[in-house]
Amino acid sequence: MMRMMKARIAMMKNMVMMVKPRVGRVLLATCAGSFFILILYFQNSARAEHLLGRTGFSGKLRRAPLQTLFDGDQNRSAVGMTLQGRRSFLDKACRSHTRKRRVLSPEDLRHLLVDDRHGLLYCYVPKVACTNWKRTLMVLTGDGRNRDPLAIPANEAHAPGRLRSLSEYSTAEINRRLRTYLKFIFVRDPFERLVSAYRNKFTRSYNTAFHKRYGTKIVQRHRANPRPEALEKGSDVSFEEFVYYLVDPRTQREEPFNEHWERVHALCHPCLIRYDVVGKYESLAQDSRYVLKLAGAEGEVEFPASSKSTRTTESMAAKFFNNISPFYQKKLYNLYRMDFLLFNYSTPTYLKFR
Ligand SMILES: *[C@@H]1O[C@H](CO)[C@@H](O)[C@H](O)[C@H]1NC(C)=O
Ligand SMILES: *[C@@H]1O[C@H](CO)[C@@H](O)[C@H](O)[C@H]1NC(C)=O
Repeated sequence: MMRMMKARIAMMKNMVMMVKPRVGRVLLATCAGSFFILILYFQNSARAEHLLGRTGFSGKLRRAPLQTLFDGDQNRSAVGMTLQGRRSFLDKACRSHTRKRRVLSPEDLRHLLVDDRHGLLYCYVPKVACTNWKRTLMVLTGDGRNRDPLAIPANEAHAPGRLRSLSEYSTAEINRRLRTYLKFIFVRDPFERLVSAYRNKFTRSYNTAFHKRYGTKIVQRHRANPRPEALEKGSDVSFEEFVYYLVDPRTQREEPFNEHWERVHALCHPCLIRYDVVGKYESLAQDSRYVLKLAGAEGEVEFPASSKSTRTTESMAAKFFNNISPFYQKKLYNLYRMDFLLFNYSTPTYLKFR
């Protein structure tokens, strides 16, 4: 049985599969990285035979996006090269920093948003341009009347049910999409993302829901002699208190982190799902354009250019961390360590613990 499985895996690694007859596109199977996909794949072997039997077909097919990205084309673009380097860096980092593979459950796939029309799976990470990516996907999956992502109000982009999540599908439908769609993710320097989350959720007076839900608890637990008003409103949490809250073991014991400060590693499972493209916030415009090109959606939508002057930068993050003792800096770094390691972010030079 084990031998058969191995043989089948080897076959599938090299297999080319039909994805969407409507669009007439072939994608290279990238299932090699996910044990989950393989396991379910065996339960579905009749279908596998069928697909395997069709590897030889050719004809009117357009050039596959993943081939554009990964084959040995002499004319590969500089962006494509960078992305491929990042991709193999992640593979290697996963091999050296994660232990046992585990099986994914549909619940793990909540952050993967689906575009069936273009064969895309996007794992959204809050504070990494996810509003603009959701807007862009809404244009791509929409009826074609709206072509301007920025015409979609932010609150509408985040409204539940506007985009479908991969977790809503049946196991077979999940596996089909995981196997054949272009999977992408956007990441960012973990501490810049964290400071961005803090600034957005705790320093803006309009975010009362966060103040009530998290702020009051943080003040109660991590402030000595809080004023009654602060206890009630939770609207003046300092970055230092936020850090105490994050590294407090009770926090994660009680409930998972809110998605705005949850680690990418825990939101998107980059060592279990093999993302084809790992975009970075630091090269957002370029990487986004590349994803849209791979998806064959260049002419349909333009990813919004960022114009935010308030965006969190490294020097801004440095200022926030200046108030944090080396001891807590180290604890916090350990908490976010996987995101630093997997996505090749170096330990920020402003930290004082080394
Ligand atoms: C090769 O690269 C050049 C410059 O980026 C581009 O203009 C051209 O279309 C590419 N050719 C092919 C066959 O992809
Ligand atoms: C990793 O990061 C370093 C430093 O920023 C960079 O020089 C290198 O090219 C990156 N490696 C990959 C594979 O992206």
